[in-house]
Amino acid sequence: MFSEMLMSRLRSAKTVSVLTGAGISAESGVPTFRGEEGLWKKFRPEELANFDAFIKNPKLVWEWYNYRKQLISQVEPNAGHYAISKMEFHFPHFYLITQNVDDLHRKAGSKEIYELHGNIMRNRCVDCNKHQETIPETDQNALPRCDCGGLIRPDVVWFGESLPSQVLKCSFDAARSSDVFFSIGTSAVVQPAASLPLEAKHEGAYVVEINLEPTVISPYVDETILGKAAVILPQLLKKLIG
Ligand code: OAD
Repeated sequence: MFSEMLMSRLRSAKTVSVLTGAGISAESGVPTFRGEEGLWKKFRPEELANFDAFIKNPKLVWEWYNYRKQLISQVEPNAGHYAISKMEFHFPHFYLITQNVDDLHRKAGSKEIYELHGNIMRNRCVDCNKHQETIPETDQNALPRCDCGGLIRPDVVWFGESLPSQVLKCSFDAARSSDVFFSIGTSAVVQPAASLPLEAKHEGAYVVEINLEPTVISPYVDETILGKAAVILPQLLKKLIG
């Protein structure tokens, strides 16, 4: 399943980067966004994942995030997350970039994570931007508010919003310096994350995609390995370090 070229590139690699998307958490029971069973088939992103929607109907948006937080708090990392956390210690330089907000990479032991789309477990004030570890207790109908009186929102990136600039810069630097770059469990349609594998390729990395099915970037990468990330990654790690 793993080509000689990939194994040889990995054995000599000084810098390896991994970009993950919702597919890495699928085996943990977190729904993906697109596809037949995806969240965006059942819920409308324009009503739930943008700032205007939040200001118009913060209660609805909070219900949606509380529902997802509840779901995520009940699931565990899978063998794919654990394999990635072990890779961090195997290569001289290793960068983990994720579009996921579910915190499962951290739960699996990954230390350095570039969270491009934020983290659903964090919150911040829309007025003063202060980060809030826990949301103040409110009764069932009240909305969480900061000391300054501003509404508290989930610290995730919504449609139309910029990604955290430092995290984005570090992610592109990582992609450009990679000897091997993995794009795992992402449909690679949401920018700017989707440009990372192509940027890595442009700068000479060996780019490998792991996905259940081919994606829009498949024609441009060096290899697409079809299958579940939670199955393929432990096998790859075993072949690499025994
Ligand atoms: P998508 O739902 O767009 O894509 C998930 C990808 O994972 C698909 O290509 C699936 O084929 C693949 N997949 C599913 N199960 C898998 C498995 N077990 N092993 C490997 N691959 C599997 O999710 P993302 O690409 O992460 O943004 O979506 C990107 C962004 O769009 C999200 O971060 C979110 C969403 O709108 C924001 O909320 C800002």
